[in-house]
Amino acid sequence: MVKIILDCDTGIDDALAIGYAINSPEIELLGITACYGMAPVDYTFRNTKTILSMLNSNVGVWRGSEKPLILEKEYDGKIHGMDGLGNMLGSVKEYDLEDCPSTHAVDYIIEQIHKFKKELTLVVTGPLTNLAKAVKKDPEIVQLVGRVVTMGGALTTPGNVSKYAEANYRIDPHAADFVFKSDLPITMVGLDVTRKTLLTEEDVGKWRSKDTEVSGFFADFTQFYLDAYKELHPYLKGCALHDPLAVGVAKFPDLVKTIPIHIQIDTEEDGIGRTIEDLYRKTPDTPNTEVCIQVDTEKFMNDFFKCII
Ligand code: RIB
Ligand code: CA
Repeated sequence: MVKIILDCDTGIDDALAIGYAINSPEIELLGITACYGMAPVDYTFRNTKTILSMLNSNVGVWRGSEKPLILEKEYDGKIHGMDGLGNMLGSVKEYDLEDCPSTHAVDYIIEQIHKFKKELTLVVTGPLTNLAKAVKKDPEIVQLVGRVVTMGGALTTPGNVSKYAEANYRIDPHAADFVFKSDLPITMVGLDVTRKTLLTEEDVGKWRSKDTEVSGFFADFTQFYLDAYKELHPYLKGCALHDPLAVGVAKFPDLVKTIPIHIQIDTEEDGIGRTIEDLYRKTPDTPNTEVCIQVDTEKFMNDFFKCII
């Protein structure tokens, strides 16, 4: 069984990743840390709690970062809705935050890494802000943690928010830059592989026809994401299971083929957020990342459907 902390910006495919993790017998989900990203952090915290409660899970949720390290974040709601869940839940109310723990997500991450060390895999499916702050606060965790699986980047394929950049690293390129320079044991699950794991209208139709409260709710918010993909990425014929695949890779490392590469994050305006090989690689001078370049799509999709709802 793999012990996981999921750091996410819930987000439609983050919600699917949570469902997949919760129902995976091979995963012990220790806790979930919420970061701003696809919606402001109060929303991602509330969305996470809602998904867990629908799935009858008592896994704890910690509220994390409110904004990128340096840049500002604006929200347009195009892919995930203004509330992050396809506009299904609307605005956050005071009571949604009533049981928010006093411990910050960054401190929870640090504490759990000290407790479980190499046994722990941290899966990050949003911007890398919480993790960057954790390493800044306690650099020792870099050597302690077992593995970091991050959904983000695009090495051999175009970006999804610019010609070069993927959304999670583009939102906080400075956090990503810091994390990739930190010597953490990183596996990068980027668009190179996540665009090969697609959910179709037919798949979502099957959830709807199960006719339960949970399957109906999942079908409704996922339909919003499918419609956004139809408009913005029509060539894909489905919506990408970015964040669930990161959970899949944490669960079954052999789902993907990886190559060791020294990744650096472009923080210059023309290519900001881009993942590219660092040719100068001064520190450290060995590859800092296992980059996923191939995925066993069939094995992943079968496992995802078996667990999700
Ligand atoms: O680029 C894909 C990523 O951006 C996913 O994590 C998705 O949830 C969005 O946050
Ligand atoms: Ca996400």
